[in-house]
Amino acid sequence: MPEIKACLFDLDGVIVDTAVYHYRAWKRLANELGFDFTEEENEKLKGISRVRSLELILSWGGVQKSEAEQEELAGRKNRWYVEMISRMKPEEVLPGAKEFLEAVKGAGLKTALGSASKNSGLILERTGLKPLFDAIVDGNTVTASKPDPQVFLKGAEALGVEPAACVVFEDALAGVEAAKAGGMKVVGIGSPRVLKEADLVVRGLYELRPEQLYDL
Ligand code: BG6
Ligand code: MG
Repeated sequence: MPEIKACLFDLDGVIVDTAVYHYRAWKRLANELGFDFTEEENEKLKGISRVRSLELILSWGGVQKSEAEQEELAGRKNRWYVEMISRMKPEEVLPGAKEFLEAVKGAGLKTALGSASKNSGLILERTGLKPLFDAIVDGNTVTASKPDPQVFLKGAEALGVEPAACVVFEDALAGVEAAKAGGMKVVGIGSPRVLKEADLVVRGLYELRPEQLYDL
């Protein structure tokens, strides 16, 4: 088995907690369409693309919309979401995330972002984390969503590291599945009950040290 050479990070739920902003924007949209949207439903959208999220929300609300209408609705939700994340501050980075990124870079490992979000650039800029990533792969560059491994395979390729020498950090089941499908090691962030396939599960990056990555 090759030695670990790179770390690939999901963004939402691993580095920053943007789920609350997604929730507020989707809820506002659902309410305008005449139905409610719960936090439990929001949980099911973790790691899921914007377009697919809207399809699911409309089906839960029992509402049908044409493709053109769906495009307008997704755009409306995104404008509200962008309004909120435009005000994000570096303090909103999840506990230990910045320190862990610095530690893995200090240990000589490469880092890449592997996110489904098309807004990752804005979030990294607002939180000041951009310089800590050697490569950024996000919703603007991928054509297949998690659990497809494309986002992580592109990240490994951009870093010039073989997939088996990469560790992925993910909070969503679809993301853990994507990493495994790509032949990578995975550290799950969240509950071991949900992220069963992960090689190790922690509550947050604050619990981890780079040395632990060599024993996965
Ligand atoms: C993922 C989030 O990171 O990005 C999902 O977990 C979200 O909830 C997806 O739908 C797409 O994000 P965006 O910013 O492109 O709408
Ligand atoms: Mg996530």
